[in-house]
Amino acid sequence: MINIVSASILSADLLNLESEIKKLEENNVDWIHFDVMDGVFVPNISYGIPVLAQVSKVSKCMECDVHLMITDPLKYIRQFDEAGADIITFHIESISDTVETVKAIRQTKCNVGIALKPDTPAEAVFPYINEHLTMVLVMTVEPGFGGQAFMDMSEKIRKIRRYADEHGFCDLLIQVDGGIDEYTSGIVKSAGANVLVSGSYLFKADDMSSAVEKLKR
Ligand code: DX5
Ligand code: ZN
Repeated sequence: MINIVSASILSADLLNLESEIKKLEENNVDWIHFDVMDGVFVPNISYGIPVLAQVSKVSKCMECDVHLMITDPLKYIRQFDEAGADIITFHIESISDTVETVKAIRQTKCNVGIALKPDTPAEAVFPYINEHLTMVLVMTVEPGFGGQAFMDMSEKIRKIRRYADEHGFCDLLIQVDGGIDEYTSGIVKSAGANVLVSGSYLFKADDMSSAVEKLKR
């Protein structure tokens, strides 16, 4: 079973983003994870649309996996699409209407992801698991910062995988984000996750290629 690795560039050298992205490409990273934080939905501010427009230009072989940690994602879907997103994931806890936001993303070229914070139960996403949903993101830290300690969400991942399988959505991607490394990746993969976001572990690795391999295997 091959897993998708999505590198969170929050941990990259932001002054040298182009060479950092080339390095990810050379080391078989599949997706670029682009964390957008508005200082309201989460207690941190990162980067947004103009930066994504540049990143998407230099990351031709990797998908742009945009994780919106913002209060009202519905307002900005078109702009993130135009800036080069391939998949847009928004939080179910945001104030935007979930059905309307899924619809708005589907009207672009992007795939749709819905994210759950650690305290949000698996059942919250069940009504939205259908042919329009590509991915569920199960946060394994409180969103807002890179480099935090992993929280075990195995039970939640299992419930979502079971529900999707039972309802004929075996292709549903389950992404995990926060504290993923060579050890914690084993835990989430055996629970049913298949898209691994990794920031500090990948960018701190002496040998990025073997770090990517360990996550994929
Ligand atoms: C946290 C972000 C993550 C973060 C992951 O709110 O969504 O994508 O950058 O970083 P690590 O892998 O260092 O936990
Ligand atoms: Zn993220």
